[in-house]
Amino acid sequence: MNVLLTGGTGYIGSHIAVELLNSGYDVTIADDFSNSSPEVAGYITKISGKSPIVYELDATDNASVDAMFRECLPNAVIHLAGFKAVGESVFAPLKYYRNNLDCTLTLLEAMERHGVWRLIFSSSATVYGNQERLPYTEDMQTRECSNPYGSTKQIIERIITDTSANGWLSSVILRYFNPVGAHKSGLIGESPRNEPNNLMPYITQVAIGKLPKLKVYGNDYPTSDGTGIRDYIHVVDLAKGHVKALEYSLTRSGVEIFNLGTGHGYSVLELIDIYERVNNIKIPFVIAPRRPGDLPESYADATKAEKMLGWKTELTIEDMCRDSYAAARLGTS
Ligand code: WQD
Repeated sequence: MNVLLTGGTGYIGSHIAVELLNSGYDVTIADDFSNSSPEVAGYITKISGKSPIVYELDATDNASVDAMFRECLPNAVIHLAGFKAVGESVFAPLKYYRNNLDCTLTLLEAMERHGVWRLIFSSSATVYGNQERLPYTEDMQTRECSNPYGSTKQIIERIITDTSANGWLSSVILRYFNPVGAHKSGLIGESPRNEPNNLMPYITQVAIGKLPKLKVYGNDYPTSDGTGIRDYIHVVDLAKGHVKALEYSLTRSGVEIFNLGTGHGYSVLELIDIYERVNNIKIPFVIAPRRPGDLPESYADATKAEKMLGWKTELTIEDMCRDSYAAARLGTS
């Protein structure tokens, strides 16, 4: 069975490719390498012992996508391709709406034309917006997002829901919380090209001496220690959740939404402490003003995925900190 992964050489896509190959699926990757590099395909092969087929293409280009479908005819698609920098999306909203919506519509039209009707979509907990209660559950009404990146995820969820409602598409929407960490081999990881926006890669760059110190964005939130609380999930657990979601989609029709998180939140200061402890290093930091758009707290109710997919996280926050640091020291994260 052949699974098409759009954005499959990216941080999360490459980990999903490894888990799919390990589970006996054939994998086809479509990527433009705008946020990854071609050698990641070699690392995927080295880790899994099997090679994905790779198409370098612009996922918004109808002709290229159609030619790929004609050649590889996938049985299912896992759609990750898209721009994903929250901060950048605020300054370049049209770039985000054009790219993220275009590549999704181009993909769905190709799927319809070629009779491919199973889709797993990479969504984000960002779509919940600022809710009154925690933990987030999939039945919550999503609220206005504080950034265009999150809004593209909300709009794409709507497009997929409407297409799945009484049409031909059987889809699973996965709302990621905060994916972090790296494969134990250290061969695939976050590999930030510029100064990281997210906490774990920033801490890791400080840990390996690439950045001098961490700025903690605010310690006056209404949380246990005043710093922001998030539900960090190991990227390998996240990847395994996609294999379970794929298996689920093979026997169902319609649309189903699942949170992919641990169900537990850690504050920024807690994460720093754990990172220092498991890696036996110091992470210098300063308290800085809050970052605009940040929520005080966000964590998942992860019980629906456990009940319906038979999936739950196995790796700990210590594993996430250890694997992030190890991969960075090997130069891949
Ligand atoms: C986590 C906490 C910050 C950096 C984003 C996207 C989300 C998803 C994951 C794509 C917050 C604090 C951070 C730093 C800090 N991406 N922080 N200093 O904002 O929860 O989620 O990434 O799907 O869509 O919104 O993650 O890691 O940026 O922040 O103090 O240098 O760390 O204030 O409390 P976030 P994050």
